[in-house]
Amino acid sequence: MKILSIETSCDETALAIIEAEGDLDNPKFEIISEALNSQIDIHKEYGGVFPAVAKREHARNLVPLLEELNSKFQITKNQIPNSKFQTESNSNKIPDQVRDDKTDEIPEQVLNDKTDEIQKLLEREPQLTEKLFSFLETHEKPDLDLITVTSGPGLEPCLWTGINFAKALSIVWQIPLLPVNHMEGHISSILINQNRGSTKSEIRNPKINFPTLALLISGGHTELVLIKSWGKYEVIGQTKDDAVGEAYDKVARLLGLPYPGGPEIAKLAEEAREKDLPFSEISFPRPMVNSKDFDFSFSGLKTAVLYKTQELGEISDDMKKIIAREFEQAIVDVLKKKVTDAIDQFDIKNLIVGGGVISNQYIRKNLQELVEEKDIEVFFPEQKLSTDNAVMIGMAGYLKSFREQAVVNPEIKAEGNLSLNS
Ligand code: KG4
Ligand code: ZN
Repeated sequence: MKILSIETSCDETALAIIEAEGDLDNPKFEIISEALNSQIDIHKEYGGVFPAVAKREHARNLVPLLEELNSKFQITKNQIPNSKFQTESNSNKIPDQVRDDKTDEIPEQVLNDKTDEIQKLLEREPQLTEKLFSFLETHEKPDLDLITVTSGPGLEPCLWTGINFAKALSIVWQIPLLPVNHMEGHISSILINQNRGSTKSEIRNPKINFPTLALLISGGHTELVLIKSWGKYEVIGQTKDDAVGEAYDKVARLLGLPYPGGPEIAKLAEEAREKDLPFSEISFPRPMVNSKDFDFSFSGLKTAVLYKTQELGEISDDMKKIIAREFEQAIVDVLKKKVTDAIDQFDIKNLIVGGGVISNQYIRKNLQELVEEKDIEVFFPEQKLSTDNAVMIGMAGYLKSFREQAVVNPEIKAEGNLSLNS
């Protein structure tokens, strides 16, 4: 089936069309078309994501991205010229060659019927409404089987924009719509790999053995999820305060480095390891490393860095590298310990790692070594699917379609704290 997916939970506006087939034992995916707009340059100015700005940007970018998708892969077969939304007897203006036997599929018919409903739906999305109407009135119903949209967790104003956009498309095109949990998206992100590499983690459509453990590490989340089968998720541990990426970002700010701080800290830490810089007296805590659960806490680690920087005053470039290395090592030690304990306790067969922080090569290498010791397989997403994207929302939606019937224009609520527990 062909799936259109929509992701607006944070600072990436993303759309994708994927082809999905196979059953839950062996789902297969192909990316047909994707379009993504990252707001990272805008949020750099604020040193973090500012929800009202993010929402405005989603509303502004969704239709241009839909047009981009359409130009890469014609999702709608025919352009309908000359139409004007909300004028009387629109259908009379549609040229004969596009009317043919598909007249009842021409969206203007539905648009005319549903004008009020859609206008009400998009009441709070002024930047979106006009562009969307003009797209819809000039394009036929596309050849799609399902629409999926992120409904949480994330920034609620941003989630609503994506949901309202998805609902409008579902209504006008009469295509079923499913809400998707963004974290199930990150878990699913490993289900396709277009890099035809030679390692096991680069198998195109990997086969997952359960129970599987997912470690999800991003700017907003740090979670360990026990997966008994697709759709059966139990969050066995999560951060009590800062997420891993957030800790990187905050420590970067303490060291005077730009947002997002993860790659900056990673670079300095790598230089400290390469140059084998002395450890001086820099040593940070490994928070909750010996707690008997799978939860995390990183704000104390950040505070330890804060105190150290205050104590040092002026910080040399080498000292920044030493601090970055020790901070990163503390993160790695905690992640490794919790993952190891979970693998042992739940007799885990596969490890899935997702989220933007997994771009970090040092963390990746350490996890790779850990699973080799445990003799289990690890799956990382390819680079572009490790950060927020819509392809993963399409794949998670396909998995969900086996346990929930998708309907046209369902009730969907944005849930900022939506949990994966099922
Ligand atoms: O998944 P993502 O793109 O967005 C969220 O949903 O949060 O993750 C972004 C986070 C940021 O906090 C960023 O600093 C961090 O991932 N990050 C890294 C690296 N690259 C990005 N953290 C550590 N090392 C990296 N190389
Ligand atoms: Zn994410």
